[in-house]
Amino acid sequence: MTNKSATIQTIYDLCKKTFSPTITPPPSSPVVHKLCSLLDTVNPADVGLREENVDDDRGYGLSLLNPFNRAPRWAQPITYLDIHESDSFTMCIFCFPTSAVIPLHDHPEMTVFSKLLYGSLHVKAYDWIEPPQIAKSNAPEYSQARLAKLVSDKVLTAPCGTRVLYPTSGGNVHCFTAVTPCAVLDILTPPYLEDAGRRCTYYHDYPYSSFPGQGVISDGKEEDYAWLAEIEAPNVYMRPGNYAGPSLQE
Ligand SMILES: [Fe+2]
Repeated sequence: MTNKSATIQTIYDLCKKTFSPTITPPPSSPVVHKLCSLLDTVNPADVGLREENVDDDRGYGLSLLNPFNRAPRWAQPITYLDIHESDSFTMCIFCFPTSAVIPLHDHPEMTVFSKLLYGSLHVKAYDWIEPPQIAKSNAPEYSQARLAKLVSDKVLTAPCGTRVLYPTSGGNVHCFTAVTPCAVLDILTPPYLEDAGRRCTYYHDYPYSSFPGQGVISDGKEEDYAWLAEIEAPNVYMRPGNYAGPSLQE
């Protein structure tokens, strides 16, 4: 086994040994620390990726050449590479073309490790305020919204450290927007499972000032808070791709 295949195999082995299909207990700090240290060393080549997606600027670039023939840059799909899926964890890669978006969504009762492999990615992430603060709405689009606090609103550029979100901290509700072609290696534990209540829900965020007089904030500024309203699952243009990294020995 080469060093490259050893890295992803070691990550897989650690996940398999420590993760379980149940939500409790969440991964312990030593496990999180060890997994992050391993993920921090992963390069695109370790998972069979090239650093650049040469096809990415088709459409976007052409639209600049001919403004009357605007091929939308978002016409290209996000490519989803499935590395491993079990009751205990999901390991996968999302390859984004420039400007592709995975809209605001949650990870109920889950812990998620995200390692940016290459490129630049804008991450906006919230955690719910506990106990829940709910604002009722008369808007036709949504009947209520729940208060959340902004945890992250910044652009990450590889190489950078692994991000971890937890059931109630670290930015459990997040949105990814590709600033350049980029790829994210994700490990989710436990995986989404609708029957167990771990359903992916999508949200729209509204400024704190949208509901005057509602919502009590204990720290930070009003700009650090938002009301999140559930929306129907949007059509995210995503296609499956073939994982070309080292095959795992299970
Ligand atoms: Fe996510």
